Amino acid sequence: MSLKATAEAPANLAFVKYWGKQDSDLRIPTNNSISVNLSKAKTITSVEFDSTLNEDQLSVTNRDIPLESDFSNRVFRHLDRMRSLAGINQKAIVHTQNTFPTGVGIASSASGFAALTIAACSALGLDLTEKELSEMARLGSGSACRSIPDGFTEWIAADINNSSYAVQIAPADHWDLNIVTVVVSKQAKQLSSTYGHSLAMASPFFKARLESLPVRLETVRSAILGRDFDTFGRETEMEAISFHSIAMTSPIQNPGSWISGAYYWLPESLELILSVQQWRGSGLGVYFTLDAGPTVHLICLHKDLDRVISAVHEVESSRSDRKWDILINDPAMGAHLIAGDDLE
Ligand code: DP6
Repeated sequence: MSLKATAEAPANLAFVKYWGKQDSDLRIPTNNSISVNLSKAKTITSVEFDSTLNEDQLSVTNRDIPLESDFSNRVFRHLDRMRSLAGINQKAIVHTQNTFPTGVGIASSASGFAALTIAACSALGLDLTEKELSEMARLGSGSACRSIPDGFTEWIAADINNSSYAVQIAPADHWDLNIVTVVVSKQAKQLSSTYGHSLAMASPFFKARLESLPVRLETVRSAILGRDFDTFGRETEMEAISFHSIAMTSPIQNPGSWISGAYYWLPESLELILSVQQWRGSGLGVYFTLDAGPTVHLICLHKDLDRVISAVHEVESSRSDRKWDILINDPAMGAHLIAGDDLE
């Protein structure tokens, strides 16, 4: 009998960020975070366990940049967790592909580990609840736990039983938001998120950020539930800057070099940030956020989508030597099984 399954999972965009871990092995975050699943940034992964294999194999298609050296091991370690739960030792072949560029500030580890979790658990015959799947995905990459439920989700850092997983706060069709994701560079970031998390607490502002987050989480959650776009947009934008302020003020000591902090932005990211401020000044309802990369995510109501897209094109074409990838996202469903032939 073939132990095979294929799953699709969305990347998610955090409105309140996960940055800093209480426990890095278990990927327990220092704070709750809130995100939405992105319809145009997906990973499709198939997993086949096979008793004739001597070792796990990973093949990745549609990838612009080489695999990070430890990525395969991270995938195989994640398979081990699910194998040990199922009591099955067979090695596996994993095929995976992303519908979007990797390592530029769209959470590819979120979609990747969410899709891997759903496919491998199904192939192994594990019948887990959504909460258990979210906890399992978290062990592969923290933000992956938020790609399991549908729509808008909140990752509970630790509940009363000390478990850490994401829950839905509103379904995908709750609010007609669009996320216009502007990939200003496809060059992968120099500093991984995992490494960035480990530096966060060294920022002198980390404690102040943590203290401010309970109110911010409540504000963002209520603004989503009440569809209060301006409150939501303002808080989300301030949160992005709070997170980047921590990254920029967490010093990094590498052998032979010291830097005072990580700048995930590129000049084009700042150009867009300043443009958003101007657009708002002229009455366009749009806010920005950025994850750990130069990609700028613009958030607007669907009624303003066309104006936002034209405004982005205007900035893009102010220099003839550039062409940005632009993904127009709707809030999307979470990770789910699909027919295997959807993979190239
Ligand atoms: C900036 O989930 O990639 O995107 O748990 O080490 O895999 P690991 O980190 P990861 O961190 C994502 C950080 C972020 C913010 C967020 O998505 O909340």
